[in-house]
Amino acid sequence: MFAFRLGLLLSEYLGLETMLALVCKTYDGVKALETYDKEGSINKSAGLHGLAASIGRPLVGRFHVFCLENLRAYAGEFVADDPQRRLDLLKPRLPSGEHPPGFLGFAVNMIYVDSTNAFCLTKDGHGLRETLFYHLFSRLQVYRTRGDMLQALPCVSDGALSLDGGMIRSTGVFTLGLREQLDVKFPKNSGIPKLPENYFETEKRIKEMKWQKERMVEDMQREQYMLDHVKRSYEVKKEELLKFLAQGSAYSAQVFNIPPGTL
Ligand SMILES: *[C@@H]1O[C@H](CO)[C@@H](O)[C@H](O)[C@H]1NC(C)=O
Repeated sequence: MFAFRLGLLLSEYLGLETMLALVCKTYDGVKALETYDKEGSINKSAGLHGLAASIGRPLVGRFHVFCLENLRAYAGEFVADDPQRRLDLLKPRLPSGEHPPGFLGFAVNMIYVDSTNAFCLTKDGHGLRETLFYHLFSRLQVYRTRGDMLQALPCVSDGALSLDGGMIRSTGVFTLGLREQLDVKFPKNSGIPKLPENYFETEKRIKEMKWQKERMVEDMQREQYMLDHVKRSYEVKKEELLKFLAQGSAYSAQVFNIPPGTL
């Protein structure tokens, strides 16, 4: 129930446009979604527009796309040995020095991220939590009740939610009234299934190795490209040199009256 309510709240906080946004790992992915003709208009038969048109549902209006490699990733520490790769964020403190009562956690850390998406998703080795979810939620705090949330106001930095529907979008921006029922919901926190203890560690290591392998392949491709480039410029220089020598021999043949081809 807790996860269900939190899922509803978070989806309401983000709004429909964001909930329906697309996520690309790379900028190349974004470019593939939409292309433009010479005049700068969208080519309706390419990318996502083409796909949508082909199933009879042409795209109208705008849609959001998050590009993981372009998002500014969270730069701080992570909770040690956490298979969920939660961000090690400082728990809020009231001016009195105490932690606010009813504080349940930071939204960014309360979302269950599938382990395939928690590590090494982007070229820089970032996962979904420190890129997409940190971008969306920043340090949004979650409280048990509206009362708890309002009492904690002095230490709310990037907004707060309460499970009973309280919402502060950002410092000084309160969202009052009744909850809207969004048709799109955040996936329910399915919890971490019971798996052997070292399962996540092993999975993480495999993922890291795969990631390193990808980087190595990229490095090799780059090296190969440079090698090819050097070879090509070598060929060009050789060509020039041979031409120069040939001209030179023709010239000396003229000067010394030697028949061409005997040098
Ligand atoms: C639009 O995209 C299609 C499919 O990729 C392509 O065949 C066509 O040449 C493109 N048109 C323009 C004007 O770029």
